[in-house]
Amino acid sequence: MKATAKAPANIAFIKYWGKRNAKLRLPMNSSISMNLSEIFTITSVEFNQKLKEDLVKIDGKVVSDKEKERVVKHIERIRRLAKVKLKAKVESRNNFPKGTGLASSASGFAALTLAASKAAGLNLTEEQLSILARIGSGSACRSVPSGFVEWKAGNTNESSYARSLYSPDYWSICDVIAIVGRKSKKVGSTEGHALVESSPFLKTRLSGMKKKVDEIKMAMKEKDFSKFGEILEEEAINMHLIMMTSKPALYYWTPETLKIMLKVIEWRNQGLENYFTIDAGPNMHIICREQNVNKVKAKLVRLAGVKQIIINHPAEGARIVKF
Ligand code: PMV
Repeated sequence: MKATAKAPANIAFIKYWGKRNAKLRLPMNSSISMNLSEIFTITSVEFNQKLKEDLVKIDGKVVSDKEKERVVKHIERIRRLAKVKLKAKVESRNNFPKGTGLASSASGFAALTLAASKAAGLNLTEEQLSILARIGSGSACRSVPSGFVEWKAGNTNESSYARSLYSPDYWSICDVIAIVGRKSKKVGSTEGHALVESSPFLKTRLSGMKKKVDEIKMAMKEKDFSKFGEILEEEAINMHLIMMTSKPALYYWTPETLKIMLKVIEWRNQGLENYFTIDAGPNMHIICREQNVNKVKAKLVRLAGVKQIIINHPAEGARIVKF
């Protein structure tokens, strides 16, 4: 009983930050994202009667007790659904540094959900997989469907899942990731989400969310890149202001992050249309049209502090792969 799945990381254009139900990971607002072609997780799960306990390895290393507990809890959910009692061996590999704002929990839990459910003999629909992945890590539900994705907040376990708005080939836009830090963040997103209510600006953020989601969807429908970029950049700052005004305050930016943000704006003012977004980490995601990707790359390589550049296209969602 073994299966292997590959799932992409995703970049959110409208962010998920704050939960209305922490246990079920129901978000306070809907979010919109794109799956990324070059950063992903491949996970194998094997249920085997010879195993005496669950074994979890990530990137070739046995994980800490805390990380293992989160993975095993997820495997437990799947064992319960499939009525399987066997212990599992989980081996997972990321092709990028985890815990640095590159959504490793999204690709990780999407791949784990698909591999474990298949290995346990379940044949879940995309919707069911998305719901299960969400309980593992909220943004993981968006790495299940393909391409450009909307996660409708919903208000129950069954109504909160992601679905594809457009397939990967709908729009040739890129996410150019500039890696400026490889260290795992000190405060993970699970702890971060729990702080949102301490920000005096949360109410203002949430009151504008529905309009923002509708507007970005309209920009995507019309392929209005300028409108789309304007909304996603504003949204990233909006989320980071909630983080920075939480108690305790969360600062995910480093001086390099801010330096690149200002550069992106400068390049735009000079005629190179590009926009930035940032998740819970220092690394920058620069969104541009395919035709400008090499220009953006050429600018980034000249900046001190940029350690690696990864060019992503829109990608498929989680898939079973042969290993
Ligand atoms: O799914 P989590 O708990 O890793 O939260 C993701 C939070 C952000 O990446 C900052 C925003 C998002 O919507 O992806």
